[in-house]
Amino acid sequence: MDPLVLGIESTCDETGIALVRGRELLHDTVASSMEEHARFGGIVPEVASRAHLESFVPTLNSTLAAAGHSLEEIDAVAVASGPGLVGSLTVGVAGAKALALALDKPLYAVNHVVGHAAVDELVHGEFPSRFLALIVSGGHSSLLLVDDIATSVTELGHTLDDAAGEAFDKVGRLLGLPYPGGPHVDALAREGDPAAIAFPRGLSKPHDMVEHAYDFSFSGLKTAVARWLEQCEIDGRAVPKEDVAASFAAAVTDVLVTKTLRAAENHHVDTVVIGGGFSANSQLRDAALMRGQEAGLTVRIPPLRFCTDNGAMIAALGSAVARSGVEPSGLHFGVDSAMPLREVTV
Ligand code: KG4
Ligand code: ZN
Repeated sequence: MDPLVLGIESTCDETGIALVRGRELLHDTVASSMEEHARFGGIVPEVASRAHLESFVPTLNSTLAAAGHSLEEIDAVAVASGPGLVGSLTVGVAGAKALALALDKPLYAVNHVVGHAAVDELVHGEFPSRFLALIVSGGHSSLLLVDDIATSVTELGHTLDDAAGEAFDKVGRLLGLPYPGGPHVDALAREGDPAAIAFPRGLSKPHDMVEHAYDFSFSGLKTAVARWLEQCEIDGRAVPKEDVAASFAAAVTDVLVTKTLRAAENHHVDTVVIGGGFSANSQLRDAALMRGQEAGLTVRIPPLRFCTDNGAMIAALGSAVARSGVEPSGLHFGVDSAMPLREVTV
């Protein structure tokens, strides 16, 4: 029987703890401190760390109780040791080390971003031998070539400035929407015309395609939106918020999908997994599914609760790593706020 793996996620503002056996999720529980940050308009690291401390044991107990397992039955512990906020990571890693030590079980320190792709195996089944993963959230926008989720991940590209969700949040603020603005901009965009305003497509000019073929940049776009809104004010025109949101959303998702499709063609892959909180975005989902289908690709997007940060993604990756026979991480590793994506495990 496959090992029973406990997964612990605490990289940002969600405390997630899950139990996975093989590719089957037994239970996951997520506690979020997002509401505590909303009034500050952004995540406050110290508030997030304290919330992890308060949530860790209740979240663990709730997962064990719901799955009908005791701590002693766990065969391995997996924890996200980076990338993320140092204080938040430290709580999860300290808790994971304490559990592994007390239970005398192997501990795997795994990469949070790779976990965003790994979780899809719990939903859509075993991965093909090679696939692309587009991981998009408020903190990351990366395109990965995955030959083996447990051992071989290559980062083809990433954002050079803002993450996709971060860009949406900033434009949400420009449009006077509540934090986090992403879902509000999405809703507004559905009412507008995506072709109304020709906003720039970052890093998409022919010369960008030499060095930055698979990299992204959204800060120039955000500035273009700000300038456009300023011009409206100067001219005394009413702002067509729906059209601004729709045209901005089209610019972000067009670049994400175009670069992903190009990578799929150049690397001869026929499957793309999309993960991270921004994959909730309806403009991205529509464009990826439609254009992916046209290109003959299988596009796998897990349901939303597995796209936002959660413990199942870490348990899924821990399970894949344990299955593949990778050496456990021991107890002497530290957290790594900038953990490189090629490092699936420590
Ligand atoms: O993965 P996640 O929950 O947290 C991070 O690790 O960042 O992603 C949250 C990000 C936020 O920036 C949020 O505004 C954005 O994803 N987001 C969206 C949508 N839902 C969440 N952005 C655009 N459209 C959405 N529907
Ligand atoms: Zn994440």
